[in-house]
Amino acid sequence: MASAAVLLLVALAVVLASWMLTAAMHRLVWRPYAVARAFRRQGIRGPEYRFYVGNNEESKALRVATADDVLDLRSHDIIPRVLPQYKAWMASYGKVFLAWAGHMPALWVGDHEMVKQILSTKAGMFRKTDPGPSILALMGRGLVFADGEQWTRHRRVVHPAFTMDKLKMMARTMAECADEVLGRWVARAAAADGGVARVENVGQEFGELTADVISHTAFGSSYREGKEVFLAQRELQYIVFSTMNNAGLPLPGRDCLPTKTNVRRWQLTKKVRGTLMAIIRDRQAAAKDARGYGNDLLGLVLEANTPTGTGGQRAAMSMDEIIDECKTFFFAGHETTAHLLTWAVFLLGTHPEWQHKLREEVLRECGSTTVPLNGDSLKKLKLTTMVLYETLSLYGAVTMLMRTAAADGELGGVKIPKGTMTMIPLAMMHRDEDALVQSLPFNSGWEGPLTAVSQPLLKVRC
Ligand code: HEM
Repeated sequence: MASAAVLLLVALAVVLASWMLTAAMHRLVWRPYAVARAFRRQGIRGPEYRFYVGNNEESKALRVATADDVLDLRSHDIIPRVLPQYKAWMASYGKVFLAWAGHMPALWVGDHEMVKQILSTKAGMFRKTDPGPSILALMGRGLVFADGEQWTRHRRVVHPAFTMDKLKMMARTMAECADEVLGRWVARAAAADGGVARVENVGQEFGELTADVISHTAFGSSYREGKEVFLAQRELQYIVFSTMNNAGLPLPGRDCLPTKTNVRRWQLTKKVRGTLMAIIRDRQAAAKDARGYGNDLLGLVLEANTPTGTGGQRAAMSMDEIIDECKTFFFAGHETTAHLLTWAVFLLGTHPEWQHKLREEVLRECGSTTVPLNGDSLKKLKLTTMVLYETLSLYGAVTMLMRTAAADGELGGVKIPKGTMTMIPLAMMHRDEDALVQSLPFNSGWEGPLTAVSQPLLKVRC
């Protein structure tokens, strides 16, 4: 009897093991082979798939090889640094090619019409790519990662906070934060020999400025608690990214072990959630007392989320979903804007003639004694806006977008199977001559400034 049970167990183990082996072989060997062949037949080639790791190692080696390259101050060709793999593979296979992120097919698409199709598809064919549990735990599934029905529902609630009149109301707060930083710089210069001081780490200074701006504009009167959330999230971000970079092979359950890092991660996650919940409850209580939700981003979102708000007849977003959107404001709005300011200042430093033009414009439109304290004066700063657009085009913080095919489908006449990731090399496309004449969904409205400023500022040597 006992031996029959053992035999049965052994048989089950053998069946299970062979089933797992077959599934793994299908995933890691047969499917990549079949997918690569199907693409090849349609004229799409690319670097060869390697078992399990795909092209990850080549890609990493290319990034490591160029990581210490020093850029030429007068050239804006940052592609060898930011997308070296795209540059290398494009040279061999053209603007559209197939590479492998592990065993997942990754179709790199540098063709404008195809990118338009990916980003404007209404049928939900190309979905946001799942960033994985670590990033989701850090950033939450706010608008940046939400998709389908969830994206529509969140968007309806969050959108009113970002209309021009609402943003204009925040311009004064932003200007006050900037004025504080400038005041520090001016005082430093006044105390220095010859009235000139050096700002050592302008990126860090702008990082602190934008952290201040986002804490004030998102959380208004709860700014101090908001700043605490920001600092906790920044530490969490450091932990998550360094764990991901040193991860090696995935070890199931690794995140659940009570290691020093994991314990700190749990504490920070709890602190972020607890502080945000307390801020939100305070606002809800204030609204009940007829004091209102507040005019900051959080207040406007909470107001739109009430049953009578733009969210619909009942609260559209749960407490957790609101918390995720708060995390998104910090992540989406902090480093991106610090990065923009840093590169704009760099470009103006290397193009003093434009610095002069912008200074003249600001003095003309805003007067010599005040900073542009309201949204209306910002509208008059045409050249300044053009330079910021140009900076975004040349040195935008987001160098690449990803989407994943939710079903078998077609892209620019190429059949692509479900699960194919599409990689959009934004930084490369902004340097593509076609980008200056064609308007993409994500940069409509940029065309004027781009072509207008591109002569003096844009000297691309790709
Ligand atoms: C110069 C600064 C910024 C840059 C370069 C930038 C860039 C981008 C890009 C490329 C996307 C599209 C991502 C995708 O579709 O996969 C995006 C989406 C988004 N960004 Fe920004 N962003 C900036 C500033 C901000 C700020 C200040 C906020 C908010 C406080 C913000 C909030 C968002 C949100 C909520 C989304 C998702 C929108 C949606 O899907 O409806 N961003 N951003």
